Amino acid sequence: MSIVNAREIMLEAAEGKYAVGAFNITNLIQMEAVVETAIAKKAPLIIQASVTPSKFLGPKVIAAIYRTLAESAPIPICLHLDHSTSVEFCKECADAGYTNLMIDASKQDYEENIRQTREVVDYCHSLGNLSVEGELGTVSGVEDQVIVAEDEAQLCSPEQAVDFVERSGVDIFAPAIGTAHGVYKTKNPKVDFERLGKINQILNGNGVKIPLVVHGGTGLSKEYAIKLVEMGGAKFNVSTELKYALIDSSYGYMTENRDQYNPGKVDIVVKEAISKVVGRWIDVLGSAGKA
Ligand code: 13P
Repeated sequence: MSIVNAREIMLEAAEGKYAVGAFNITNLIQMEAVVETAIAKKAPLIIQASVTPSKFLGPKVIAAIYRTLAESAPIPICLHLDHSTSVEFCKECADAGYTNLMIDASKQDYEENIRQTREVVDYCHSLGNLSVEGELGTVSGVEDQVIVAEDEAQLCSPEQAVDFVERSGVDIFAPAIGTAHGVYKTKNPKVDFERLGKINQILNGNGVKIPLVVHGGTGLSKEYAIKLVEMGGAKFNVSTELKYALIDSSYGYMTENRDQYNPGKVDIVVKEAISKVVGRWIDVLGSAGKA
C-alpha cells in the first residue's frame, strides 16, 4: 500500500475535502526529509521531481531511492515527474518506476496538447497502475525548464476542460487558474477560485472522477490554500519554498560555521528546514492523520 499513484490518494483527498501535499525535491536529503515528515504527520504524500533533477540523478536512481523509502513507510507515497514537456522522457520515467507522470504540453496548441497527453496516458496505462497529469491553460512563472511570462499565461476554460479530460484520458487534471510558479510579487495574487470551483463542479459534481491539481503553492497564504482545497484542489504543489529552505539553511550554517567540514551537519540543518516547511503545509492542507 505504500507505493501508490497520485490518482488513488487524490480520490480519497477530494472526497475527504483535504489536499495531498506534493513537494519537489532535488536530492536524497530532501527526499528523506519530506518522507520522514509525512510519516510523522501520518499524511499521504506525493514526492515530485522535475526534469532537471530527474536527469541529473537519473530516473532509475530516484525511483530506486523512492521505492526503498516508500516500501517501508506506513503511509502511501507517490513519485511524480513534474512538468515534462517530452513524451519520451515521461515514458522513460514510467519505465524507471515513477508512479505519476506529468506531461506538460500546455504550451502546445490545443489538439497537440491532447495528442501528446493521450500518448503518455496510453503508454502509462499499458504498464499498469500509473496515473498521468495533464495541464490546460498555462501557469506563469518558472518551474525548471518551463517558463511562462505573465502576459502569456492563459486561464483554463471550464468548457474546454471537459473536452480535454475526455479526449486525453488523463487521470488527474491541472487547470490554470491564476496561481504562478516561483515567488508572488504581491501578498494577494489574483487567483480565480470560482473558475476552479466551476471546473470541479462540471467534472466532479456527481462524484469525484478527475481529481484536480493546484500548481504554484509557494507564497500562497493559508487562507488562499484552504479556499483552493474547498474549491476542489486535491493535490497542492510546493517547489520554490523547498529550494529556498535548502539553500538558505545550508548557507546559514556554512557562514556561521566556516571552519567546519562535516557535511553530515549541513544535512541535518537542511532536513530540519525542509521538515518545517513540509509539516506546515501538511497541516494547512488538512492531510495530517489521513494516511
Ligand atoms: P512553486 O514553485 O510556486 O511552489 O510551484 C510548485 C509547482 O507548481 C510545481 O509544479
